[in-house]
Amino acid sequence: MNAALLSVRGIRKCYGERVALEDVSFDLWPGEVLAVVGESGSGKSTLLDAIAARSAPDAGLVQFRQRDGQLQDVFALGLARQRLLARTDWGFVHQNPADGLRMEVSAGANVGERLMGLGERHYGRLRATAIEWLQRVEIDANRIDDAPRSFSGGMRQRLQIARNLVTQPRLIFMDEPTSGLDVSVQARLLDLLRQLTRQMQLAVVIVTHDLAVARLLAHRMLVMQRGRVVESGLTDQLLDDPQHPYTQLLVSSVLQP
Ligand SMILES: Nc1ncnc2c1ncn2[C@@H]1O[C@H](COP(=O)(O)OP(=O)(O)O)[C@@H](O)[C@H]1O
Ligand SMILES: [Mg+2]
Repeated sequence: MNAALLSVRGIRKCYGERVALEDVSFDLWPGEVLAVVGESGSGKSTLLDAIAARSAPDAGLVQFRQRDGQLQDVFALGLARQRLLARTDWGFVHQNPADGLRMEVSAGANVGERLMGLGERHYGRLRATAIEWLQRVEIDANRIDDAPRSFSGGMRQRLQIARNLVTQPRLIFMDEPTSGLDVSVQARLLDLLRQLTRQMQLAVVIVTHDLAVARLLAHRMLVMQRGRVVESGLTDQLLDDPQHPYTQLLVSSVLQP
C-alpha cells in the first residue's frame, strides 16, 4: 500500500513564457524531512507554494492523506477547506518571519490564534499553552505580552515556528527558514528544528539553498535545476556520492574551501 502523507505528481507551473516547474513528482512519508535544494531561481519556492496550495500549478496533482486515511486531492478541496487544512494539519514557515506572524499583536496571541481557529476559547488554557510553546522554542515566557516587532530575528523565527506547531500539524512547509539569520543564530535554530521535528515526528518539506541545512535536518533530498528535479535520494548518499553533474557542482562548490 502506498501510505505516503503527501503525493505530488507532474507539477508544472509557468510565469508567462517562463517555465518555473516542469514535471515535478515525489512522495513524502509520515515523519519524513525532505529538503528541496538548488540554486536561486531553480523553482524551489514556486514548488513549495504549489504543494502547500498557496498558488495553484498549471498542471499536476497534489494529494494529502487526511486523518481518516483518505488521500485527498488538495486542489479539489474548496477554498474554505484548503484554509482549514493550512491552519490545522499543515504549517508554513516563511523565510521572513514578518510574513508568517502578526507583528503588532502579542507573542502569546500569535501562538494562541491558531488554537482559537480550532475552537479553543478558554483564556487560561490558551495562555498556558502559549507559555508552554514559548518555552519550547526557547523564548522567555515573560515576553508573552510583547509584540514580535520588539523581538530579534532569531526570536521572531522561533515564534513563527511555535505559532505553526501549536496545533500539532502533521505536515510543515518551510521556505529557507534560517537564511535571513546570522550564522550563530542559524545554528541554534537548526538545532531546535531538528529537536522538534524528531520529538513531534513531523513531516517536513524544507526549501534551502544551504546543503549544510539539508545535511543536518533532512532524511531525503530533491535537487532542482531550472524547474526540474535532477536528482533525489537519501541525504547522506546524495551528498557523499552525487550522481548528476549539477549536484556534483553544488556539493563541490559548498564543501571545498
Ligand atoms: N511571481 C512571479 N512572476 C514571474 N516569475 C516568477 C515569479 N516567481 C518566480 N518567478 C520565476 O520563476 C523561477 C523560479 O523562481 P523561484 O521559485 O522563486 O526559485 P527559488 O525559490 O529556487 O529561488 C525564477 O526564474 C523566477 O524568476
Ligand atoms: Mg525561493
